[in-house]
Amino acid sequence: FINVLEKCQNESLIVLSGCGTSGRIAFLLVTSFNEMLKAQKQKQICSYIIAGGDRALLTSQEAPEDDPALGARTLDKICAGKKHVLFIGISCGMSAPFVAGQLDFCLKHLDVFTPVLLGFNPVHMAREPMQDCSFHFKDVAERMAAEQRHKKAFVLNPVLGAEAISGSSRMKGGSATKIILESILLAGHEATFRGKRTTPEFCHNQRHTYDFFFCKSFISLQMNAHVYYIGWQTLGTIGLTDASECVPTYGADFDDIRGFINNGFREMKNKEGDLSFLGPEFIIGHKDFVETILPSLSQNDMMLFLFAVNDDLHEVTALADQVRRRTSNLHAIAHDLEKFIIPVNFKESSFQQRQRWELSTKWCLNAISTGAHVLKGKVYMNYMIDLRVTNSKLYRRAISILQRFTGCSKSKCERALLRAIYSTDDLSEDMASVDVWKHTDAVVPTALVMMQCGCTLAEARHHLDCHPVIRDAVSACFNSSKTKNFIKPLDSVESEP
Ligand code: F6P
Repeated sequence: FINVLEKCQNESLIVLSGCGTSGRIAFLLVTSFNEMLKAQKQKQICSYIIAGGDRALLTSQEAPEDDPALGARTLDKICAGKKHVLFIGISCGMSAPFVAGQLDFCLKHLDVFTPVLLGFNPVHMAREPMQDCSFHFKDVAERMAAEQRHKKAFVLNPVLGAEAISGSSRMKGGSATKIILESILLAGHEATFRGKRTTPEFCHNQRHTYDFFFCKSFISLQMNAHVYYIGWQTLGTIGLTDASECVPTYGADFDDIRGFINNGFREMKNKEGDLSFLGPEFIIGHKDFVETILPSLSQNDMMLFLFAVNDDLHEVTALADQVRRRTSNLHAIAHDLEKFIIPVNFKESSFQQRQRWELSTKWCLNAISTGAHVLKGKVYMNYMIDLRVTNSKLYRRAISILQRFTGCSKSKCERALLRAIYSTDDLSEDMASVDVWKHTDAVVPTALVMMQCGCTLAEARHHLDCHPVIRDAVSACFNSSKTKNFIKPLDSVESEP
């Protein structure tokens, strides 16, 4: 890192890249770090890549995650003309083909690139075969580990945090990514420009606020109302990131939990600029909130303001006044300077202070939205069974969830999943051979009910319709599956109480 910063800055670049939440964390770190460099009149030397481009900052774009060649091409393009590139590829589960393609590209051009892999799996557990590809993640991770011996490449893979448990930045991971990369960026910067070694100090989480907030947010979701995060600066980005994961993870609607940021895309400073023309999911400014949501805001909708004492408090108050006229369900995560007494030897810079605020906000929001969806019944025995099957990783994950709950063979589970995906009880040969994960419906619960109860697709769907809460539907199926005819023929089913 120091090497790259010390070299001629026009010829150097630091690139952070990832998919889904990993890419969003890359974006957040790069934009914040560049801002800090700009404030210090230094060259903004960092750049981010997210699979699927900037639209993936706000919505899930999972198909490009499967494409190693696309990853390599994108990296090649942004590094054109650079002589020294520090590339940090983030894949919490060490599984994303997009990132594997980039690391492979770096390993082939070690004269320019210093590749770093950040993940939370041991190398031997990295993902093995990849679609249409001559190499796979494990192969790339092993080559990285081999180059590490010569200090040409680096693998950072501590087994810590939620990421190691979930094997992905899904389920609101990404905190460990943020902590580790912030420490590296800041320590490298301090060492280069100030000649000192630092160890950033991180805050305690604000767990006592969680219970209150996630009960409130659950009540809003349960009443088919909404949760709105209204954030300022990077706290707005944290809100947008948390909201964006709810759709693919829990099969939520995009407007169940939504984020808004002051000044919209101008504040985001993303590469592709204003994306609001792409549709309602890309409407993110406070002004947009006031124009489109506020007029129909109800008492059941939960409002959560995210700001710090150095944000424009007049603006915060003015917006809060407007909101209060429509609902009293208004809360805030507000960061203040006065409340903490930080010992002299832990004195932090304003950049570190912001990082601390971001991290504690992230943890609060992750707990709130996860807790609300768990209470809403989107999780069964700790598994997010209502996931969307939109890429090869998620296709495999869906099959292994079915295996785990039914104890059936992989091929039997795959066939049940395909039946649910293709909406048929009669699978043809060619149905199994196409890119099935391009289908976006929530199909795992249907396949699970079909297998557990030995019923037809129509009967499984009917059962799910009778139990609007997914966890109840699946529990009922498991509790009663010993009774052969538990799922009644469609025309004889009585309505649920
Ligand atoms: O494919 C979707 C997804 O699981 C996201 O939910 C996640 O944020 C992304 O992939 C990246 O995962 P990883 O960091 O493990 O590569």
